[in-house]
Amino acid sequence: MRRPILAGNWKMNKTIAEAVDLVRAIRRGLNEIKDVDRVLCPPFTALAAVKDLLQATEIGLGAQNMHWEEKGAYTGEISPLMLQELCQYVILGHSERRTYFGETDEAVNRKVKAALAHGLVPIVCVGETEAQYDAGQTQTVVSAQVRNALAGLTADQVAGLVIAYEPVWAIGTGKAATAAAAGAVIGLTIRGTIVELYGEAAATAVRVQYGGSVTPANIGEFMAHPDIDGALVGGASLKPEFVDLVRIAAQTKAR
Ligand code: 13P
Repeated sequence: MRRPILAGNWKMNKTIAEAVDLVRAIRRGLNEIKDVDRVLCPPFTALAAVKDLLQATEIGLGAQNMHWEEKGAYTGEISPLMLQELCQYVILGHSERRTYFGETDEAVNRKVKAALAHGLVPIVCVGETEAQYDAGQTQTVVSAQVRNALAGLTADQVAGLVIAYEPVWAIGTGKAATAAAAGAVIGLTIRGTIVELYGEAAATAVRVQYGGSVTPANIGEFMAHPDIDGALVGGASLKPEFVDLVRIAAQTKAR
């Protein structure tokens, strides 16, 4: 049985003061929801403040990106050593980083290995663009992203990962994938690729989220799909309603 995981990716939103306000508003409600992992991923600048507020809760904390080196002359970058002191998770290879900051599969792979070496749980993002979707390339693209991002990992390491399937055309558009379509990509393409490369046990154990225009109104549909283990939530994680979303997710999986 895979434990569901709901994560809020705040992206480049919230000052420290705003982050503190939001966390104060949601932490009790989030903490009370059992049997699912709940994770907040604020911007780097708010990590320390949010960490303090989450002490004595079961709510996890994650960063949104990371360099693979521990330290050195990489102006503006944040290392796994630095994140180790602050959080347990790190989002890697988000499509916005691939699109706007030129992140390649190779860079994502280095980051995944560095995160694992430092005890951080990577949330590895994959997903096809609208053009790739229209061209019928979803399976090829997503399978290659999975293969490249996880290259060189052991089956045990793969089993401990979180993967987020985020079709780029569904992010921030209000146009979510259907649960059936997302579940098929996750079950057939993502788990299928992992079965081939790392074996049945790793493919069964790895947790895979859906991401892209998830709201309290549609989360139930996604969670009802047996191959979908949670969600990576953008816009809807910036408001107190995120608690409702996580509650609905937990209730749906408990059925
Ligand atoms: P939205 O939920 O705003 O569509 O963003 C999804 C996402 O990119 C999460 O990483």
